[in-house]
Amino acid sequence: MSKAKSSRDRRINPPGVTRVTRSSITTTQDSQRIKPTDSGLVDDLSLMSVSEQQALLAREGKSYQSPSTKSVLSSASGNSVPRGALGTIGRLMKLGRVRNIVVVAGAGISTASGIPDFRTPGTGLYANLAKYDIPYPEAIFNIDYFSDNPHPFFSLAKELYPGHHRPNYVHYFIRMLHQKGLLLRMYTQNIDGLEKLCGIPDDKLVEAHGSFATAACHLCYTPYPAEEAKQAIMNGNVPICTFCAGAVKPNVVFFGEDLPEKYFQHAEDFPKADLLMIMGTSLKIEPFASLINTVKSTVPRLLLNRDAVGPFERRPLRRGDYMELGDLSDSVRKLAEILGWHTEIQDLMNSHENGVCSYTDPSSSSGENSDSSETDSMHRDALYV
Ligand code: OAD
Repeated sequence: MSKAKSSRDRRINPPGVTRVTRSSITTTQDSQRIKPTDSGLVDDLSLMSVSEQQALLAREGKSYQSPSTKSVLSSASGNSVPRGALGTIGRLMKLGRVRNIVVVAGAGISTASGIPDFRTPGTGLYANLAKYDIPYPEAIFNIDYFSDNPHPFFSLAKELYPGHHRPNYVHYFIRMLHQKGLLLRMYTQNIDGLEKLCGIPDDKLVEAHGSFATAACHLCYTPYPAEEAKQAIMNGNVPICTFCAGAVKPNVVFFGEDLPEKYFQHAEDFPKADLLMIMGTSLKIEPFASLINTVKSTVPRLLLNRDAVGPFERRPLRRGDYMELGDLSDSVRKLAEILGWHTEIQDLMNSHENGVCSYTDPSSSSGENSDSSETDSMHRDALYV
């Protein structure tokens, strides 16, 4: 693996601010101006330029109205139309206006699997490292500190090695995006391996902060058998490089280390995205956090998180930015319900978790993404041997 150019640095952000859930700005006057049947379309229009709006309206056989008109409350059938961030993004997806979704994720997507995140006060990993006697919490993932004293990380690694936790609904939602042919790529900061375990294929996944799947010397980067490294660490030993005698570590990216080569695929992916979904991250760590600013300015960005983070803390929000604050599993489930995917995701999750894979990748017959069914069988092997 060739070495990439930039390294991870910490960025100091102000703490999160007021909780604000974006919702459509509905007025009685506005709702009277629009026919109920236009409700989804009108919300959708708020994301588009005038020329895009005219083109879409022409396709729908309607004439252009002022973009200041906003959503109404019910559909033609009388059913309530979901409003707010999830309703708007759900409508865009249902209208087929979204085909290349990039997902950007962090530790918050795995808390429902029982894995603590890093920075939540009290429960986050960084609040619970006292027993390691380290100078500051992030030292445990600092390459210079590791070089000096690898023992704290190796003690923690015994707990962090994948194998104890299962993917949750959020992971399977992202896999469903792939199954529906909508996932351009998932960029994750997580090192828990749950994305792969739920069946998101390798070519759809960028593990930006590395993983435990491979290991190498932290000094000369000579590869080392991952299973042997794991056994040594589990037995309380330091695996030693056979070439330079440096300490071997799993290829989790530490502060001060280069990101994996695959990370730089972002330069092609983000400009192609037509929707960015940001899930369960504090957006505190660079260069990962800045990826979200590299989509086109017209591309909607949806934040699903407990708190407003990064550019979503600013007021006013960037045009096209949406957020749904609260528990991620709840938000994702609501979006799945809007999309009509909830039962399908539950079935996929149940069958996958029970080792009976009924899923056939719709794209496999065309050859595209054909590694997915293979991923499924590998996944079952990994689960049950
Ligand atoms: P953080 O712990 O910094 O942020 C997790 C975010 O997810 C926070 O904003 C939480 O409020 C939110 N969150 C947690 N559980 C949630 C839930 N159930 N529902 C909704 N939101 C929830 O984790 P990351 O942003 O992933 O580096 O941290 C980035 C990097 O910092 C990590 O990759 C890690 C760390 O140093 C490593 O390489 C190990």
